[in-house]
Amino acid sequence: MEKLKILITWWLGYIWSHTAVEFIQAWYDVIIVDNLSNSHMWVLDNIKKLVWKKIKFYENDIRNYNALEKIFIENPDIDWVIHFAAKKAVWESCQDPFLYYENNISWTINLIENMLNHNIKNIVFSSTAVVYDALKLIPPFSENDRLNTTNPYGTTKLTMEYLLKDMSTHKNFNSVILRYFNPIWAHESGLIWENPKWIPSNLVPFIYKVANQEIEKLQIRWDDYNTEDGTGVRDYIHVVDVAQAHLSAYDHIKQYIKSQEVAEEQKWLYDYFNIGTWNGKTVKEMIEIASKVTEKDIPYEVAPRRSWDVDVLIANPLKAKQVLNREPQKTVFQAMEDGRNFINKHKETLEDSPQNITK
Ligand code: UD1
Repeated sequence: MEKLKILITWWLGYIWSHTAVEFIQAWYDVIIVDNLSNSHMWVLDNIKKLVWKKIKFYENDIRNYNALEKIFIENPDIDWVIHFAAKKAVWESCQDPFLYYENNISWTINLIENMLNHNIKNIVFSSTAVVYDALKLIPPFSENDRLNTTNPYGTTKLTMEYLLKDMSTHKNFNSVILRYFNPIWAHESGLIWENPKWIPSNLVPFIYKVANQEIEKLQIRWDDYNTEDGTGVRDYIHVVDVAQAHLSAYDHIKQYIKSQEVAEEQKWLYDYFNIGTWNGKTVKEMIEIASKVTEKDIPYEVAPRRSWDVDVLIANPLKAKQVLNREPQKTVFQAMEDGRNFINKHKETLEDSPQNITK
């Protein structure tokens, strides 16, 4: 079995912890770095329960060049990086754009500089559907559609995509970018889930809080969008489908390297993929599904629109299907059922969770 070592930045977070599990279960050696600013140490304990393997973990801030370098020096066999570390709350990025530029970009620059200095050139990077010019494009969006953003979070992701493109073109990096649409729910084991130190403002966690009567009403953030029922349309995808796409991205780079060895050439790979389902659901449709799945009423009211929201975000995921051989395995309905089972299993823990932040 192959023993390539992979460094995963910020793995104790949401998508990243699910991805780490997929890699460990596929018998890769992973090393984790996380500064615990928005995650909990118990996530690591739960992952150990899930994979039954020793995991090397560094509590480090990757903004600190020397701290990061120490990891590369102590682990000279790292030759891959999966880079997730980023702040990702859109509302917060609109309130404090500088925070997002300062964090997301400096983390990535430090990482890339370290990779360069240690001759590590393979990277899978997590990006977002927000990089598409959603205000002007007609969905579904394909990878070569025009890029533009409505919020600083999206702009920092797009900037990092450009940085990686330059690193590939001029420094022979092999980079694969994954643009996630709207990942939802949790690992079916019930051991890991989205549990940041504060609750994000995303739709699906809120719908379930209303179903559980922790919150009286859901606020639909505007009902006059250019969609069938006036509410925003998103391409929701099960988080485990997103996590598994990283294995395919990794294989894509590996196959590329092999093909170069055969051709005895030294080139580079820069490729990017939508990770979505081609299926859009409106907010009202999501409420209906959740209501069916939980057998509970989900009262709502219409509230003002959020400044960064767009009408419709749907992926054309054909490229991932054709090149990565990757298609989502679960439907939105199944994801919502997993969510219900998950909440039932963790009712008490979730009730203790921190203060909501609604923006
Ligand atoms: C946003 C980003 C996405 C990012 C994600 C992470 C955009 C366009 N997308 O997703 O890239 O990965 O945040 O935080 O900025 N809604 C309500 N009531 C609520 C919450 C949401 O009606 O209380 C609606 C929104 O208007 C939207 C849909 O639900 O139409 C989904 O919203 P949300 O879950 O916050 O995700 P995005 O904003 O699509």
